[in-house]
Amino acid sequence: MQKTRTRAAGQTKFLLDESELPRRWYNIRSDMPTAPQPVLHPGTGQPVGPDDLAPLFPMELIGQEVSEDAEIAIPDEVLEIYSLWRPTPLFRARRLEEAIGTRSRIFYKYEGVSPPGSHKPNTAVAQAFYNKQEGRTRLSTETGAGQWGSALAFACKLIGLECKVYMVKISYEQKPNRRSLIQAWGAEIVASPSEETQSGRAILEEHPDSPGSLGIAISEAVEDAAGREDTAYSLGSVLNHVLMHQTVIGQEALAQMELAGAFPDVVIGCVGGGSNFAGLAFPFLREKIAGREIDVLACEPAACPTLTRGLFAYDFGDTSKLTPLVPMHTLGHDFVPAPIHAGGLRYHGVAPLISQLVRDGLIRAEAYLQNDVFASAVLFAGSEGILPAPEAAHAIHGTLQVAKAADEAGEERTILFNLSGHGHFDMAAYDNYFAGNLQDVALDEAEMSRALGAIEGLPTPA
Ligand SMILES: Cc1ncc(COP(=O)(O)O)c(C=O)c1O
Repeated sequence: MQKTRTRAAGQTKFLLDESELPRRWYNIRSDMPTAPQPVLHPGTGQPVGPDDLAPLFPMELIGQEVSEDAEIAIPDEVLEIYSLWRPTPLFRARRLEEAIGTRSRIFYKYEGVSPPGSHKPNTAVAQAFYNKQEGRTRLSTETGAGQWGSALAFACKLIGLECKVYMVKISYEQKPNRRSLIQAWGAEIVASPSEETQSGRAILEEHPDSPGSLGIAISEAVEDAAGREDTAYSLGSVLNHVLMHQTVIGQEALAQMELAGAFPDVVIGCVGGGSNFAGLAFPFLREKIAGREIDVLACEPAACPTLTRGLFAYDFGDTSKLTPLVPMHTLGHDFVPAPIHAGGLRYHGVAPLISQLVRDGLIRAEAYLQNDVFASAVLFAGSEGILPAPEAAHAIHGTLQVAKAADEAGEERTILFNLSGHGHFDMAAYDNYFAGNLQDVALDEAEMSRALGAIEGLPTPA
C-alpha cells in the first residue's frame, strides 16, 4: 500500500488496461433529483412519442432517450471499436501546476487520442451501430468545428454506412483539413447553409453571406433524413442518449483517480451542446447526488453564453423549427453566434439534462472571452505539450481560474478537467491568435433580447 502511494505521488499518466473498459453506459436520469421535462411536439404541444421520432432515429436510440434504467449495456461490436483508442489516459498536469505555481493538484482526462481527435466517436460509433442494426444505410448530420463530422464519418466507415455532413460554412472555410479528413473516411460534405435543402436555400435567400450556425446545419441534416427512407439523422450532442454514450469518459476517470489516490473537489468541462462535459461529469454527479461534495463547473464562450445568460425555456433545437420543442437554456433558435474559433461551442441551446441540473444547483457555469481562452491554451501547450482544441481550451481556462482563486484564498483543490480534443486541425485559429486578429466578442443585450423574441409564444416549462 505504502509502495503504491509513493509511486502514485510521482506518476504522470494513469492508464487502464483494455479489459477495464467500461461495459455499460451510465444513465443519470435514474438519479436526478428533478426529472427532466418532456420534449414537446410543436404542433400539438404534447410530449413526443416514439412514432414522431421514428423517421429520424432507430428504435433502440429512441428507447435510450427516454430510458430510466441506471445503466445500459454497451454492445460488443461497439466495445471492439472503442478498444482502438479506449481507455484514454488520465494525466496529472504537474508541469502546468509548476508553471502557474499553484498549490492545487490538476488532473485531466485526454480524449484527443481517438482517431478523429476528440470525444465525439464515443457516441458516433454507437449511433452508427444501432442504425446499421435496424437497416438504415445512410446517416446525415451537421458539424460545427468538424470534430463531430469527422467522428461520424469515421464511425460510418468502420461500421459500413454512407454519411452526409452539413458543415457550418465558417468552419468549412476555416478548416479545409477537417473537410479532407471527413472525405478520407468516405463521407460526402457540403458547406451549410447549402443549396441542397429548402432550409438552406431559404437562409441563403435572406442572408447570402450567412456564416452558418449549428442551428442552421441541423435544419439541413434533419430535412435530408426526413426526406429519405434509407437515411437517419445523427446528432453529436444535446440528446440524452448522446450524453449517456459519453459517460465512458467519467467512469474511466473515476477508476483512474483512484489509481492516483485522489478524488476531485472540482470537475470541469467545456459546454457546446454538453456531451463531453456530461461524459466526464455525470459519473461524478452520481457521487455528488449521493452526498459527496464536488464543485461541477461548465465553461462556455462569452459570445454564446447559453447557460450563464440564456433563458430556461422550450425552444426548437434548430433554426428552421423542424425539431421538437426542447426544455433547455437557450439564446433563441434564430440566434447566430459570432464566428468565434471554438466552432463546436456555437450552439444556441444546451442539453436538457444539463439545463435541469443547472436549475437544481448541481452544476454552475462561467463564460470566457476567446483571447483569454487562447492564452490559457498556449500556456497549457507550453507546459503539458498538447495543443488543445479551442473548445477544450475553455475547460483549461476554467481550471486556471479555479486554481488561481484557491491560491488567493490560501486553499488547495484537486481539480479534474476534460481535455476533449486536440487542436491540430485548428491551426488557422492559432495563426489568428498569434497575429493578434482574434476579436473578443461578448453577446450584447440588444441582440440577446432580439434573439429571445423568437421563443415568445412557445410553451413555458414548469
Ligand atoms: C473538441 C471539442 N470539444 C467540445 C465540443 C463541444 O461539444 P459538446 O459540448 O457536445 O462536447 C466540440 C464540438 O464540436 C469539440 O469538437
